[in-house]
Amino acid sequence: MESFLIKGGVPLHGTVAIGGSKNAALPIMAAALLTDEPCVIRGVPHLSDTEFMAQILESLGARVKFADGTLTVCARKIHGYADYELVRKMRGSICIAGPLLARLRRARVSLPGGCIIGARPINLHLKGFAALGATIQIAGGYVAATAKKLTGATMFLGGRAGSTVLGTANVMMAATLAEGVTVIESAACEPEVVDLANFLQVMGANISGAGSPTITITGVKKLHGAEHQVIPDRIEAATFAIAAAATDGEITLKNVRADHLRAVIDKLNEANVSVQRRGEALVVKRRGKLKPVDITTLPYSGFPTDVQAQMMSLLALAPGISIITERIFEARFMHVSELARLGADIEIEGPSAIVKGGKPLSGAPVMASDLRASAALVIAGLAAKGETQVNRIYHLDRGYEKMDAKLRKLGARIRRIQEKT
Ligand code: EPU
Repeated sequence: MESFLIKGGVPLHGTVAIGGSKNAALPIMAAALLTDEPCVIRGVPHLSDTEFMAQILESLGARVKFADGTLTVCARKIHGYADYELVRKMRGSICIAGPLLARLRRARVSLPGGCIIGARPINLHLKGFAALGATIQIAGGYVAATAKKLTGATMFLGGRAGSTVLGTANVMMAATLAEGVTVIESAACEPEVVDLANFLQVMGANISGAGSPTITITGVKKLHGAEHQVIPDRIEAATFAIAAAATDGEITLKNVRADHLRAVIDKLNEANVSVQRRGEALVVKRRGKLKPVDITTLPYSGFPTDVQAQMMSLLALAPGISIITERIFEARFMHVSELARLGADIEIEGPSAIVKGGKPLSGAPVMASDLRASAALVIAGLAAKGETQVNRIYHLDRGYEKMDAKLRKLGARIRRIQEKT
């Protein structure tokens, strides 16, 4: 296994180009299953998650070519069975179920199971499929959805924590080829859902309202091949912005959508970090001493759960008390005990973390537990005095393309090494 070895305390300076969004690319790749014609998807980040998704598409019979950020998928002849061994590697793979059901009227997909950040049920995905007329059976760890015909319906897809991103994506994809009109109420408003809807429209789907809580899909008989450019990754952009603020540096983010980052920019401003437009780019730097901030994670356009851990590293450096409340995933505080190893003073109280910021951080060996927690540990390591070894960075490689190389270009002293056993 590999680790990052970081010599902290170096302010980041320079320009970083943000890649295509992982969480937009994954359902868009799955959407290519909806047509027997080739689809060309540009700006796909080269990550283990996108590699896994490419393998899953291939295992279903699609021909896939992935080179230089462009993915070509031709799903001329496919079957509807997705094996546990592939699906278990990545929860995002559940979004193949909607396209398979739409195209083949049957899908048998392994249940993805829980993960370290929470249980991650798929009841809302299944509720949507059932509303379209599918029969759902769960047996042997697989969910089987079958339908003689899919018929448009009005459905409410809100759950315990609000809307569901991949649930909305899955049901929207299934509804593109259903007969009649589908209305999804309490739909996820995330930019990744909008990006998927845009791709589906280029494929010939009839969708309105994506980006709002009500999405209307009028079914069409057939979808065709299409080309698409994936939106920039707002979580990667936020991660680099926070790293710049944490190290008291100044960086320019290129290929970034400020309109997708409003909640993050607002909280960075409150923490005394300025984020300013320079043409198409964003320039990030501290205005002075960091200030404490209270944050609650929420569905879009609220503060993203995928930036909660990274922001906690920053707030550990801000003198005073910050309260971070996690409302999306029940167990997304695995980074807290590792941040404590670097000297951060953080207490967990139910869904909230109380960060008593301003204590000096010093390097230590730490263990990455999930993707965004790993990013938080890297940020803390960059800001800490001395040497930090972040172990198990395969978590990080799932969602950040060449993070170490990008950080090195910004002046960070970070190396990828083989983990000592
Ligand atoms: N939920 C249900 N039932 C469902 C689906 C979800 O109760 O059927 C609950 C979840 O347990 C959670 C909440 O609804 O409490 C929101 O989950 P959501 O379905 O929106 O999450 P997801 O679609 O499975 C995507 C991203 C996650 C990101 C979340 C929230 C992808 C591949 N994954 O997951 O990304 O945290 O939306 O924004 O798009 C990451 O990139 O690190 C990551 C975990």
